Amino acid sequence: MDKSPIGLFDSGIGGTSIWKEVIKLLPNENTIYLADSKNAPYGEKSAEEIISLCVKNTELLISKGCKLIIVACNTATTNAIDYLRKNYTIPFIGIEPAIKPAALYSKTGAIGILATKGTLASKLFEKTANEYTKNITTVEQDGDGLVPLIEQGKLDSKEMKNLLEKYLKPMLNFNIDHLVLGCTHYPYLIPQIKEIIGDDIKIIDSGEAVAKQTKAILEKHELVAGIPNKHPHQFYINTDKKVLKQILSDSTADFFISELEF
Ligand code: DGL
Repeated sequence: MDKSPIGLFDSGIGGTSIWKEVIKLLPNENTIYLADSKNAPYGEKSAEEIISLCVKNTELLISKGCKLIIVACNTATTNAIDYLRKNYTIPFIGIEPAIKPAALYSKTGAIGILATKGTLASKLFEKTANEYTKNITTVEQDGDGLVPLIEQGKLDSKEMKNLLEKYLKPMLNFNIDHLVLGCTHYPYLIPQIKEIIGDDIKIIDSGEAVAKQTKAILEKHELVAGIPNKHPHQFYINTDKKVLKQILSDSTADFFISELEF
């Protein structure tokens, strides 16, 4: 039993889509979330730059006593998780685009993947895609520009609509029946995405799977909190907290947001 917090980090506010699933499944746990919004988007950076940002975030979470870290960002996971696991002793949970279930359940034999350039270019993504999509047509699309608009809270803007149409409409020509959201920011765009692709294409994100994996790893390492958490969940952000506050407004959990230089 361990009442220390679970740490999560993302290039910004998108990883809160994972945080929501984690606290739903593990209500006894306390958490600390780092939104490195100042450095978003990670998806346009080199693997070396992403690794060094992940090290900075990890060090801060460890200094705050976290017992396990969820890398709540596909781009950070696919570029840096091997490095983190080799260099730190605490357990890390990563998140990758959910290609496997999409490929497995596809009836049309075609799936779409919307992710950042950094994720699509990573070796880990290539390995996973090769493993599961041998007989499947995969339509990969870099979601360039989406993360900065989400960070600015411009979910319903004309710019967002234009970008999503540009990225998603061509996928429809391939008769995809699953769309994998390979970035933790993108679940916040599901209503806008559905307006373009309709309700028949299944949209898959990895939030629930990550929460289940976190539970399993906590149990394996005997790190489960055991008794209900009495402290507010703590969020740190290195830019203005306004949009983060908006995005968390549907949460019933007790939380506190601090603006912090990191
Ligand atoms: N939430 C991050 C992800 O899942 C966004 C990446 C970025 O900052 O470009 O990939």
